Amino acid sequence: MAFEKNILCIGAGYVGGPTMAVIAAKCPQYKVVVVDVDKEKIKAWNSDHLPIYEPGLDELVEKTRNRNLFFSADNAKGIEEAEIIFVSVNTPTKTFGHGAGKAADLQYWEKTAREILAHSKSSKIVVEKSTLPVRTASAMERILNENSKSIHFEVVSNPEFLAEGTAIQDLESPDRVLIGSRESPEGIKARKAIVEIYAHWVPRERIIQSNVWSSELSKLTANAFLAQRISSINSISALCEKTEADIDEVAHAIGMDSRIGPKFLKASVGFGGSCFKKDILNLVYICDSYGLEKVARYWEAVVEINEWQESRFIQNMLENMFSTVAGKRIALFGFAFKANTGDTRESPAIYVAQGLLAEKAEVVITDPKALKNARKDLKDFKKRVIFEADPYKAAKGAHAVAVLTEWDVYRDLDYRRILKSMVQPAFLFDGRNILDHKKLFEMGYNVFAIGKAPLKHF
Ligand SMILES: NC(=O)c1ccc[n+]([C@@H]2O[C@H](COP(=O)([O-])OP(=O)(O)OC[C@H]3O[C@@H](n4cnc5c(N)ncnc54)[C@H](O)[C@@H]3O)[C@@H](O)[C@H]2O)c1
Repeated sequence: MAFEKNILCIGAGYVGGPTMAVIAAKCPQYKVVVVDVDKEKIKAWNSDHLPIYEPGLDELVEKTRNRNLFFSADNAKGIEEAEIIFVSVNTPTKTFGHGAGKAADLQYWEKTAREILAHSKSSKIVVEKSTLPVRTASAMERILNENSKSIHFEVVSNPEFLAEGTAIQDLESPDRVLIGSRESPEGIKARKAIVEIYAHWVPRERIIQSNVWSSELSKLTANAFLAQRISSINSISALCEKTEADIDEVAHAIGMDSRIGPKFLKASVGFGGSCFKKDILNLVYICDSYGLEKVARYWEAVVEINEWQESRFIQNMLENMFSTVAGKRIALFGFAFKANTGDTRESPAIYVAQGLLAEKAEVVITDPKALKNARKDLKDFKKRVIFEADPYKAAKGAHAVAVLTEWDVYRDLDYRRILKSMVQPAFLFDGRNILDHKKLFEMGYNVFAIGKAPLKHF
């Protein structure tokens, strides 16, 4: 069957895989190819064990794979055949040289641009799907268009706003899709071609068009605002613990103000994920580089509060467990940075586990989907960490349980059974405020939640 359009996505990660699976499902008349330099990952995408976990993803891939969705390691062929190329490679924080620790590391991005140029024989639309510093499109255009092949590339920005754990739902029914381009006739034509893809399932009023710089900057800004709400409520959680105010009651009261709204007001051990920290630090770097020192410091504080919240959590465990956790078994319930994903990148659980290990605790980690990644994250502590899929076994003989991911399964455990198997006095630290604290206290636990007065029997 001849396809109407050939779409390529470079980068088969948390964004590239799910996004292309949804495009393929919604547009069966398009051929969608996803390539990656990581051959193992491509092998996994072509197997029954996909490289990432997302609710609904397995079913979608099963429906579309080898029909009009293809996973391949042949970048060159993919590039040559495509008319539209989405680039969703990783753009982590730079760890070396100028801007280390803040700026985005664009090496994978630039390599991709050069690869596109090397293998292209016709003009193409290149879509920035990765999150990028504002004005990256200009560098991309320069690399691509200074060629002697008489071909032209139009660079369009189409940042991805999906959240891991709800990626398929977010992609199928997005709040909005943002597409930015140059305001030139060619730019607007390219932008319209991308609009037409999404218009197959997204209502047109939800497809926003803008200039390319606004689009690039909107993604960084959205993540900065989301993370800022978490740091704001977490900062107030610390004040609640000093004043007997209750953070859930405060969040409920302020969230009912329609100007504030209820979302992203859940106090916790801190935010994680591959994006928030790196994108804010990138924003900070960009502001600094334009001499906007005050703006840079304002956003930097969002990350600082998050790190403080994580360290406060460890400190609280230590202080309440008689100032020592050395040799004590501590069960961490959850290692993923949020529920419904196996992703552990920048998970607060990494930081908490490392803090407890530094205090010589015996750490047991349980998680329904993230144990494989947890093993990688803690490979340096191999001999001192136990990975256990069963939460009951993880808690057996433990002095404390700390809930670090808001998985539903942890709400419904038999906590009476767990208590009986623990060392007494038993401590429960709820880093996500998902448990019934009063009930657990009455059962016999000493309960410490975020932004609430402690419930202890001594
Ligand atoms: N993860 C999220 O929730 C999320 C949400 C929105 C936006 N983003 C942004 O999307 C981008 C991708 O994020 P991700 O989480 O999917 O990253 P990821 O690390 O899961 O995937 C990126 C993939 O790109 C591949 N890659 C790198 N260079 C390549 C090349 N030259 N050719 C082919 N493949 C190459 C890597 O091997 C990797 O598999 C980032 O810029 C991120 O900030 C992520």
